[in-house]
Amino acid sequence: MNNTRRLWVALGALLIVSFSVLLWSGAQIQRNAALMTGGVLGTLHHLYFVGSPTAVVALGASFSALEVVPLAYLGFEAYHTYRLGHSTPWMQRYRWPIYFFLAVSFWNLVGAGLFGFLINPPLSLYYMQGLNLTPLHGHTALFGVYGMLGIALVLFCVRGLRPQEAWNEKTLRLSFWALNIGLALMAVLTLLPLGTLQLLAAIEHGYWYARSAEFMQKPIVDLLVWMRVPGDVVFSIGALALAWFVLRLWVHPRSRQPVASGAGAASR
Ligand code: HEM
Repeated sequence: MNNTRRLWVALGALLIVSFSVLLWSGAQIQRNAALMTGGVLGTLHHLYFVGSPTAVVALGASFSALEVVPLAYLGFEAYHTYRLGHSTPWMQRYRWPIYFFLAVSFWNLVGAGLFGFLINPPLSLYYMQGLNLTPLHGHTALFGVYGMLGIALVLFCVRGLRPQEAWNEKTLRLSFWALNIGLALMAVLTLLPLGTLQLLAAIEHGYWYARSAEFMQKPIVDLLVWMRVPGDVVFSIGALALAWFVLRLWVHPRSRQPVASGAGAASR
């Protein structure tokens, strides 16, 4: 069996298994199965230019584009949770982890959805791969989604580990806004404009030129690289503030607060 045929057999098997699970399972599993199936095929955009058969390129491009749909739904879900944030005292205690979850859905939409979508069609990636538009997507999706998610989960755990400590909300607020604004500045002041200039150069003169020393040493490129400084400084302040916040829960913590009644062990 040649490689293309093997691939079709594997994809066929995957679809049959997925749809069987879909037919015989409950709503939750159905949703997860749909996300998994689409998600696995969605990763094929990493294989456009490694000698993959056309079918892989087509499937990868289509399923990656569709990934934006569940990402948008995750955003609605996070917003719904945010709206419920004031409904019980224990949700109020988890306000900051919930804010970080909201940041996850924001960057999901912008970093993964918008900037991912920008480089996703094989034709555009042909001109953009390895220019600054790919790290634009890489940074905003990877830190924006998984970095923020990691911080939210850390805060959940910290709440459980030190349930009695009063949180220094000022430090946490500083960290939240500095991390998000710093990431946005990094994207908007450097990666997006530099990537766009490189793309125009690639279209006009060829890909080689967009990555050449001649192009990368132009004064405008130098300026854009220096424009990383404000965003990176703001971002670093956010990281330091978060580290300080966590440290202070153990070293010289603030006055203790009673755990809200009815919160229960699970909610702590
Ligand atoms: C949270 C989800 C995602 C994360 C963490 C993520 C992360 C990344 C990273 C780190 C890169 C490598 C960037 C580089 O080479 O500089 C990348 C590349 C890429 N991503 Fe994503 N991504 C996500 C979702 C998406 C989505 C939804 C799409 C499509 C709409 C997409 C399309 C692409 C494409 C086309 C590339 C370029 C592949 C290549 O250069 O070979 N990504 N992604």
